[in-house]
Amino acid sequence: MRDIRNSLLFECSWEVANKVGGIYTVIKTKAPITSQEYGNRFYMIGPYNPKQANVEVEQSDLVDVHSNDAVKQMRDEGFNIITGRWLIEGAPQVILLDIHNHTANAALNSWKAQLWEKTKIPSPEGDSEMDDAIKFGFMAYRFFTLIGDKNLAAIGHFHEWQTGISPVLIKTDLLPIATVFPPHATLLGRYLCAGDTDFYNNIRHFDVDAEAGKRGIYNRYCVERAAAHSADVFTTVSNITAYEAEHLLKRKPDGVLPNGLNVVKFSATHEFQNLHQKSKLKINEFVRGHFYGHFDKHFDLENNTLYFFTAGRYEYRNKGLDLFIESLSRLNERLKSCNSPITVVAFIIAPASVNNFSVEALKGQAIIKQLRESVGEITDKISSKIFNNALREEPIDLASLLDEKDKILLKRRALSLKRANYPPIVTHNMNDDANDPVLNQLRRLHMFNANSDRVKVVFYPEFLNSNNPVLGMDYEDFVRGTHMGVFPSYYEPWGYTPSECTVLGVPSITTNLSGFGCFMEDTIICPEDYGIYIVDRRLKSVDESVNQLADIMFSYCKKTRRQRINQRNRTERLGDILDWKRLGIEYVKARHFALRRRYPEDMQTYESNLDLDHSSGKLSRPLSIPGTPPGADELSGPNNDTFYSNLLAGLTVSSELPGVRLQDDDDDDLRPPINLKM
Ligand code: UDP
Ligand code: G6P
Ligand code: GLC
Repeated sequence: MRDIRNSLLFECSWEVANKVGGIYTVIKTKAPITSQEYGNRFYMIGPYNPKQANVEVEQSDLVDVHSNDAVKQMRDEGFNIITGRWLIEGAPQVILLDIHNHTANAALNSWKAQLWEKTKIPSPEGDSEMDDAIKFGFMAYRFFTLIGDKNLAAIGHFHEWQTGISPVLIKTDLLPIATVFPPHATLLGRYLCAGDTDFYNNIRHFDVDAEAGKRGIYNRYCVERAAAHSADVFTTVSNITAYEAEHLLKRKPDGVLPNGLNVVKFSATHEFQNLHQKSKLKINEFVRGHFYGHFDKHFDLENNTLYFFTAGRYEYRNKGLDLFIESLSRLNERLKSCNSPITVVAFIIAPASVNNFSVEALKGQAIIKQLRESVGEITDKISSKIFNNALREEPIDLASLLDEKDKILLKRRALSLKRANYPPIVTHNMNDDANDPVLNQLRRLHMFNANSDRVKVVFYPEFLNSNNPVLGMDYEDFVRGTHMGVFPSYYEPWGYTPSECTVLGVPSITTNLSGFGCFMEDTIICPEDYGIYIVDRRLKSVDESVNQLADIMFSYCKKTRRQRINQRNRTERLGDILDWKRLGIEYVKARHFALRRRYPEDMQTYESNLDLDHSSGKLSRPLSIPGTPPGADELSGPNNDTFYSNLLAGLTVSSELPGVRLQDDDDDDLRPPINLKM
């Protein structure tokens, strides 16, 4: 009989110690609760990226003897595998597969042939991403064949299509590993939406093979679809992606596993408010450098400037950058026409192909630094003069405080603040400036940071990093210092960016085409009250959505500081409902469901043993011990008689279609004061 109680968990992802996008956030923030539940039986498998792994992973042997032997055996076969602990909270063990070493490269053609023989999935020449996925898939599969043991129970949780080949091989070769596959997005959905397709109205009618073929992703699509059908449990991160997967991958998901965060609360709310102020001052410093020479009574950083931003991978239409820029232009006109005292500085943070910071951007920061240093030196001199005079009880001669040298220095610094051009709209040299969609739309709308503009823009085409010479801040610090995150996505299976804003107490705008937006709409009666604004992109025309977005931003500009502070407090309170401690229970269900499907007899025996323990009146040991999340009392653990039947019942996906949502406005008295929907 398989040792279900001590089952091993292998979570496979391209983003283990290798940051690309939101999946990195999923696995990193979830690690603490999964480590708590599985301890040394939890492993993460990913590709070896030396640049990141060398600073994030402490190398060591694996604790489990089967896994360690499997790695040793693979090393003897010539593969390069790095094992150790990922230095993040939870310190999970990692197995990093070097897909570029000689043995893996040499095996590629044979693996391609095997893939075709077993599954009829083609792998044409010249698709390096597919080649990498094949190498990773076969290496991980080799590892799973080596840990196979008739007493061992193991779960493989495979994130996204890049890791999808292993579950397909596990299925074709009937390996005794229980599998879970969440695609996080569908390849075809992402590609179709990025074009000009009316995606949601046509989703039922696409000829999926032909559409994938037209976009040159047929082979990758096959991997994703095969993984969806091979996995014991197929899941998505939101209802909207479940609906999409059903139509594009032709399997209705078994359940939805929403993305959570590792929520860290301060003991008093003023602490996060203070952090907002601290980070805002750092952003002010950047803005002083970027917009030097253009500050006037309308552009007052202390009292009347608001910071809005969007951030994410550079997918112009999918991430709603088009909508954001268009509505910023309308906001600009409205602020001008009502003579608003407010200036909005809107940041667009999306990595593009660049050739370093522009001279203009660097110069601005240098000029402000020089000015600050010179003023600092002069004020130091003045303060020591005043001090010495006071010490000697001599009257202070105000005229002598500034000597001639200082006056000249100040004049020179003031002259260097003059500039003939407008402050730049982008901080870097773009490799394809002429065809860049963000720049072109800003140009088309004449958003050039003119003095008369009440909305200024800064396109920062790189992810933020505190080591950068321009806007040197980590992303989290930056978000804290802003007033509002704006994420009007058209295609967004979940969307961590607004979710992270919420946890940090920053209001955000999202859409009802994003998994997060739908989750909030389904969970809270009036998300707006808590600073979660949801733009309707389902039932409204693009023009109407742009106006709605501009309206929301305009109303925000009318709030007083006190109202903004109150709203931030309310937003921050919502963090609890996004905590993995609450949402992680869905992963527990999915894994149990997979074990039941893969090892039905062993699970039955195991469960009936639990029942036996129950009938003896003694509490049996739990299968695994998930922290009981608030609001999940009905699933208080595997010892609850109803637990297993709830697992299946609980893992259901809503069959509602986008655009047709059943409203249920009952308050949840359990969690005041947040008005949750049940
Ligand atoms: N992000 C970041 N640095 C930045 C901007 C964004 O680390 O300068 C992160 C952000 O914290 C988020 C992730 O990128 O966790 C984007 O995830 P999301 O789910 O929003 O989108 P995806 O890229 O996965 O489609
Ligand atoms: C926080 C700080 C206050 C500060 C305020 C500014 O609440 O604790 O000291 O005045 O932020 O808010 P604002 O919305 O104007 O950036
Ligand atoms: C994908 C989606 C994003 C989601 C992330 C994590 O990259 O684009 O919306 O938040 O996966 O699930």
